Amino acid sequence: MQVTSAHQFPLGVVLHPQRRRALVAWARERDGLILEDDYDAEHRYDRHAMGAVQALDPTRVAYLGSVSKVLSPALRIGWLIAPPALRPAVIDAKHYNDLGGSPLPQAALTHLLRTGGYERHLRRTRALYRRRRDALLAAVAERLPSWQAVGVAAGLHVVLRLPDGTDDRALQRALAVSGVNAFALSGYVPSGQTAPYPGLVVGYASLGPDRLRSAVALIAELAS
Ligand SMILES: Cc1ncc(COP(=O)(O)O)c(C=O)c1O
Repeated sequence: MQVTSAHQFPLGVVLHPQRRRALVAWARERDGLILEDDYDAEHRYDRHAMGAVQALDPTRVAYLGSVSKVLSPALRIGWLIAPPALRPAVIDAKHYNDLGGSPLPQAALTHLLRTGGYERHLRRTRALYRRRRDALLAAVAERLPSWQAVGVAAGLHVVLRLPDGTDDRALQRALAVSGVNAFALSGYVPSGQTAPYPGLVVGYASLGPDRLRSAVALIAELAS
């Protein structure tokens, strides 16, 4: 069983303590393993950090994450804290798969962690992304006041809930033609299931406030 307990993608939900306990009970009953992807846990703006599910039972949960969102996906550096009984098999699998990760990027990351550079970078980017998120939300409140923004407390994107009956894929296509990349929520749903509502997944971390405002103006124009 795989979970993104700190921040579900794409709706941004945090796994409730009761469901965390139920998940661990499930793994114990079935002799199961939980893969906890601690994805986007660092980018929190309006909510406190929650502990990892892994702390509830380190023998049942493999805890993993990467520096993709904090530094860059190009680095391909991640970590995995496996249940003790699985560690030798995980080390073997990594060794036989690719002889281990590239040492130079790992040495650079170690330096960044030891000197406090990683923490400083995170503090700076967290404040920057928060300003960008606030600019996006303010523009949505002004231009599209009846639209609800979902999953705003953390992460690098929000979901804009569209009025019922909107074809979010058609809106995605129309926006792409005008140079705005916003993805239909229905595109993230496994086949055979339906999205809870039509929506647009809008990333904001790499855009300044002016570009976010123009994107929202365009969305408002095309959606009306
Ligand atoms: C759920 C989830 N986990 C992890 C990642 C990061 O993937 P990677 O660490 O392979 O770059 C993403 C990227 O968007 C994601 O959506």
